[in-house]
Amino acid sequence: MFAVTAELRDRFGRKHDYLRVSVTDRCNLRCVYCMGPEGVPPLQHSDILSYEEILAVVKAGAELGMKSVRLTGGEPLVRKGIEDLVKKIALIPSITDLSMTTNGQLLAEMVLALKRAGLQRVNISLDTLDPQLFREITRCGDLEKTLEGIRAALDYGLNPVKINVVLMKGVNEQEIDAFVKLVCEYPLQLRFIEYMPLDAHDRKWKEKYLPLEVVKEKIKARGYVLEPCAQNSGFGPAEIYQSPHLQGTIGFIHPVSRHFCESCNRFRLTADGFIKPCLYWQEELSVKPFLHDGRGLKEVLQKALEYKRQRHTMGLNLGDDGEIIKARGMSKIGG
Ligand code: GTP
Ligand code: 5AD
Ligand code: SF4
Repeated sequence: MFAVTAELRDRFGRKHDYLRVSVTDRCNLRCVYCMGPEGVPPLQHSDILSYEEILAVVKAGAELGMKSVRLTGGEPLVRKGIEDLVKKIALIPSITDLSMTTNGQLLAEMVLALKRAGLQRVNISLDTLDPQLFREITRCGDLEKTLEGIRAALDYGLNPVKINVVLMKGVNEQEIDAFVKLVCEYPLQLRFIEYMPLDAHDRKWKEKYLPLEVVKEKIKARGYVLEPCAQNSGFGPAEIYQSPHLQGTIGFIHPVSRHFCESCNRFRLTADGFIKPCLYWQEELSVKPFLHDGRGLKEVLQKALEYKRQRHTMGLNLGDDGEIIKARGMSKIGG
């Protein structure tokens, strides 16, 4: 049907070698920037891809030059047997980077099994170091559990350990100094992230939106000299800095104020079996008809390249009600 070549390059010249796999839409938290208080109606079990089916898609991607796989959710650690999937992906020789994004609540108890299975690195969401505020932002989480998860990730040699802080005006902007202090003490890759308006659950998102340039200036005003890191240890969108006082690094992910779509390198696979060419736009292609047909899967990935748009347009109308595309919410995309 389509010509299958050994790499995934779109019409804007961007090579796609990074697959983000959402293994479940379920989550043990209800973060305010991700979903409403009532949560989201969960997908039916029968709609969710099995691990074998996910593996088939990853293998097809690997044959087309995908080198990096990130497991996401919802919360990936709530899906039973996740270490088995990690183990099978780790055995694919051309996948040289295998990582996970997690809220860390279950990490301490699972890190050994994950490390043994071949997980290399982990990104952990943590938006505050204040236990009460943590409970408010996550609506039900326990800060100490995520901190234990971070310590366990460092102790068991997951490397790097990245910390994702979604900064929101009037919610956790006062936490910037506490996070910088954390990176003075621990070798963590801290990343401040701009709040993205991905679905309509928070019509007032722009009241909470905080452009990261302001944050960078605040940190510099505290006396930290921020030197750009030559090597970005990862394949993602963060702009990373080091500073003589820090054991770790400080990064900024600013999808709204300054998009990074020109270097986009990724596809997403949703838990219910769709390739999403972009986290923002609605287009999706089902892999379900091809789960037992490796060539068909490769053709879907090739086809998905044609749906890549040059960039997202989120936040373009910051002054008014803002454009919010009616697509999947974050918990069904995995970030
Ligand atoms: P590595 O650099 O490989 O460690 O991963 P990452 O930083 O891309 O992954 P992570 O899951 O930790 O995501 C960090 C933040 O970046 C989250 O807020 C994601 O939603 C956001 N993000 C990740 N990929 C994209 C992308 O392609 N476009 C946009 N706009 N945001 C993204
Ligand atoms: N804006 C920015 N980042 C978000 N994340 C979840 N929702 C949003 C949002 N609306 C982050 C989480 C997690 C990663 C997958 O995406 O904090 O670290
Ligand atoms: Fe790629 Fe879309 Fe993210 Fe831009 S918003 S970097 S095009 S996935």
